[in-house]
Amino acid sequence: MKEDEKEVLKNYALSAEKYHNMRTKENPYGWFFNELLEMPSTLKLLGNVKNKKILDFGCGTGIYAKLLTKKGAKVKGFDISPEMLVIAKRENPILELKIGSGYKIPFNEKFDIVTSSLVVHYLKDWNKMFDEIKRVLKKGGVFIFSTGNPVAEMRFGKDYFHDKKTYWPWSDNKNKKMKIPAYHKTYEQIIKDILTNGFEIVDYKDCFPDKKAKKLFPKEYKEFSEKPIFCVWKLKLK
Ligand SMILES: C[S@@+](CC[C@H](N)C(=O)[O-])C[C@H]1O[C@@H](n2cnc3c(N)ncnc32)[C@H](O)[C@@H]1O
Repeated sequence: MKEDEKEVLKNYALSAEKYHNMRTKENPYGWFFNELLEMPSTLKLLGNVKNKKILDFGCGTGIYAKLLTKKGAKVKGFDISPEMLVIAKRENPILELKIGSGYKIPFNEKFDIVTSSLVVHYLKDWNKMFDEIKRVLKKGGVFIFSTGNPVAEMRFGKDYFHDKKTYWPWSDNKNKKMKIPAYHKTYEQIIKDILTNGFEIVDYKDCFPDKKAKKLFPKEYKEFSEKPIFCVWKLKLK
């Protein structure tokens, strides 16, 4: 197992239930950052998913899997963290959700869409990740992923131009032990990785807060409508 996988495993084991509560109970951070900031852009790029065969790459506690199933998609998924997957299965008892890494996707079939929300920055080796995605994606299939907005790196006083390990602040997290490394990439590096791996870019979004957040979380709305923190890429396999 690679070093990046080990660190993710250790950290999500500490926080799976907490993470799920943060996402599903009303809480400024969970609701704001995911439901009102990342999800609206990703769902927009996913478009109409009715009858689409979708693989949820890094499905976490199964929040997207549940939502996309409700929208008529045929969803399967995987995640590296057994603790996150237990919750995903509890939430989606009839879906096929497996333990597995993005470096070795635990499926041997083809999907119309691979979707991955806030996962790819945990993977250091994108060439290996793209090889695996290509293996399970139909020709002309779509890969949609959300990740840290490359410009966000500078919010934390870091250096934009160096691709390196960084630590995202989980500001509401009381568990001091949770410190997950993410791998920052510049726009240049992301675009090169996409193009050299046989994909074309068909759409892109800087995540902008949903207008519902203006009333519910005015402080966060103001901050993140001025300085982006996430972005979503829509790719097509050539
Ligand atoms: C921020 S959570 C997002 C979960 C889910 N995609 C969502 O948006 O609700 C990130 C997830 O990525 C998973 N993950 C991190 N590295 C992974 C890897 N190498 N392979 C598969 N899953 C991974 C973690 O275990 C965690 O569940």
